[in-house]
Amino acid sequence: MDRYPPINSGYPHFLHGGDYNPDQWIKTPEIWDEDMRLMKLANCNTMSIGIFSWTSYEPEEGKFKFDWLDSIMDKLAANGAYAVLATPSGSKPAWMSEKYPQVCRVKADGTREAHGGRHNHCRTSPIYREKCVIINTELAKRYKNHPALLVWHVSNEYNGDPCYCDFCLEAFRQWLRVKYNNDPDKLNNEWWTTFWNHTFTDWSQIIPPDNSIHGLMLDWKRFLTHQTIDFFKTESAPLREYTPDVPVTTNFMGTYPGLDYWKFAKEVDVISWDSYPSYHDRDDDWKYAVETSFSHDINRCLKGGQPFMQMECSPSVQNWKPVNKLKRPGLHRTEALQCIAHGSDTIQYFQWRKSRGGSEKFHGAVVDHCGHEYTRVFREVAGVGETLLKLDDILGTTVKPETAVIYDWENRWAIDQTEGPRNEKKDYLPACVAHYRQFWSAGVPVDVINMDCSFSTYKLLIAPMLYMLRPGVSERIERFVADGGTFVTTYLSGISNENDLCFLGGFPGPLRKLLGIWAEEIDVLYDDEKTIIEAVEPNPAGLSGKYKAGLFCDIIHHEHAEVLAVYKNQFYAGKPAVTVNTFGKGQAYYVASRNDERFLRDFYTCQIRKLNIRTVVRCNLPKGVTAQMRSDGKHEFIFLLNFTRDKYVIDLGNELFRDIENGSEVLSHLELPGYGSRIITKPV
Ligand code: GLA
Ligand code: ZN
Repeated sequence: MDRYPPINSGYPHFLHGGDYNPDQWIKTPEIWDEDMRLMKLANCNTMSIGIFSWTSYEPEEGKFKFDWLDSIMDKLAANGAYAVLATPSGSKPAWMSEKYPQVCRVKADGTREAHGGRHNHCRTSPIYREKCVIINTELAKRYKNHPALLVWHVSNEYNGDPCYCDFCLEAFRQWLRVKYNNDPDKLNNEWWTTFWNHTFTDWSQIIPPDNSIHGLMLDWKRFLTHQTIDFFKTESAPLREYTPDVPVTTNFMGTYPGLDYWKFAKEVDVISWDSYPSYHDRDDDWKYAVETSFSHDINRCLKGGQPFMQMECSPSVQNWKPVNKLKRPGLHRTEALQCIAHGSDTIQYFQWRKSRGGSEKFHGAVVDHCGHEYTRVFREVAGVGETLLKLDDILGTTVKPETAVIYDWENRWAIDQTEGPRNEKKDYLPACVAHYRQFWSAGVPVDVINMDCSFSTYKLLIAPMLYMLRPGVSERIERFVADGGTFVTTYLSGISNENDLCFLGGFPGPLRKLLGIWAEEIDVLYDDEKTIIEAVEPNPAGLSGKYKAGLFCDIIHHEHAEVLAVYKNQFYAGKPAVTVNTFGKGQAYYVASRNDERFLRDFYTCQIRKLNIRTVVRCNLPKGVTAQMRSDGKHEFIFLLNFTRDKYVIDLGNELFRDIENGSEVLSHLELPGYGSRIITKPV
């Protein structure tokens, strides 16, 4: 498909707006009218409302009043704007916690959490589920035909933090019974419970968490995802029943480790996520931009390329980081266009108007405490809105990358929990981002997928630290390579099955034949310790000279593989450090150590050339600048994004592009100011 339908066909344009809390200003309704005026000035068309409003709708159990929401929905509609209407389960009413303590979570020590904060309800509590269904039914019935209703925003940033109440523990045991066919013996085998005398003779004995049983730890995390989804489905049921045509989403949190978003993605109609990079922190800004692009790409891939929603980002600062720097002028626009470049069809903020009190009173907002439009942030937001008005041609388009990086939640859980060979700084996510970064810098679009996705459309599949292999994955990778694909993996791969039981018969387990190597031992180095690997020259993989390596050093034997680099020191000097094995029509690379940036650059520059992987623009990009694209099959929409303070001129060669915002022709040299961004287009 070249173009996906709009998020809601009733409004086929980019959404621009944010979290709006008019109930905080209920005593000053003149502010509501001022908000409507300001929204138009800011070119905003969509507000997320009611996220934390339960008590205002149901001040007493079973007594409902929706007066403020009625007014706001009507005002939005009257002003040609829309609501991303929330269900309020992210924060429970005080009366409810008081009357039904079971709605509050229980800590690992068995004590119940006090009422307060947010995002901390028990996801199994029958009362909480019932109350959510009741309030959501009221909302759905009341607003089902309201012209302002555009999207359902279910709850807010569900997390995977555990609850150890009896309901949750019982639900976990039930989930295990189903998974292990009611056979404790099967569970004991899969969890290897003879270790430290952990054999369970009855389901009731299973109490999470127990760090010594890794199968249990993985299943507990899987259960927390399962139960959160189950809760989401329960609370969404009335929305689906009364408003079957209104899309349902819940806002994810990028690479947040607590929930497996690949499982969750199947249950929502459109993916949405909240992005808060730490710009102007101590590292280069563009490195945060790479991490953000990585998350955007996950969110696009969660539904196979379907455009997603940027549900939240800050128009200026956060308030919850150790140091909250102002976003430098221009960066907000570039960050917004980056998000669109990777597949978002919306730009929404947290928050529209700064709250007067509470812990987020200093969090960035479109409207500051001064209350008017004459601020730098307001102007920048209005500018983004003006740009979005010109991007209808891009709406619903996507990108079809030839390269994919596997970043897998369960794999991350397994790596993080496993004890040894290093217990700190295993850094699975940074390792994936380091490989990804080479493509970002070269202006090559990438899919970020999990190990269950189809590989068949890619030329190059990269799976750093593929520690866990779920059933069938190695066979699928073999088929991908046999059919002509190129596969790259690294140290700490092919170690364990889905329950963290080690593969027997030599690592990298089921990938051994494909990679043509045997990894006999793995050495680890201290953070500041380095070793050296050296390329075998002439080198078919673009490697030359010496590279620094650190942290993980697999000691491998090449069985059928060709050696491309060797270790230079330690007792394994001379042993292979990089290998390639030809398998069917394709090739499989093994990178045995965590190598420096230059290694990754040389290696992937060569792969991009060898495999003829499409770069978005033909020229080399300056450091900190990326080029990304979307296409409808007829036109390419190219985003040039500069995440540095410096001005650059990009050499576009002899191709003729058009600037999508002002329609002017762009030939040859395009100027990108510091933190600047341009969108140009050309026919395919
Ligand atoms: C999260 C929440 C919002 C708000 C922002 C602040 O994303 O969903 O309610 O707290 O953080 O950055
Ligand atoms: Zn519970």
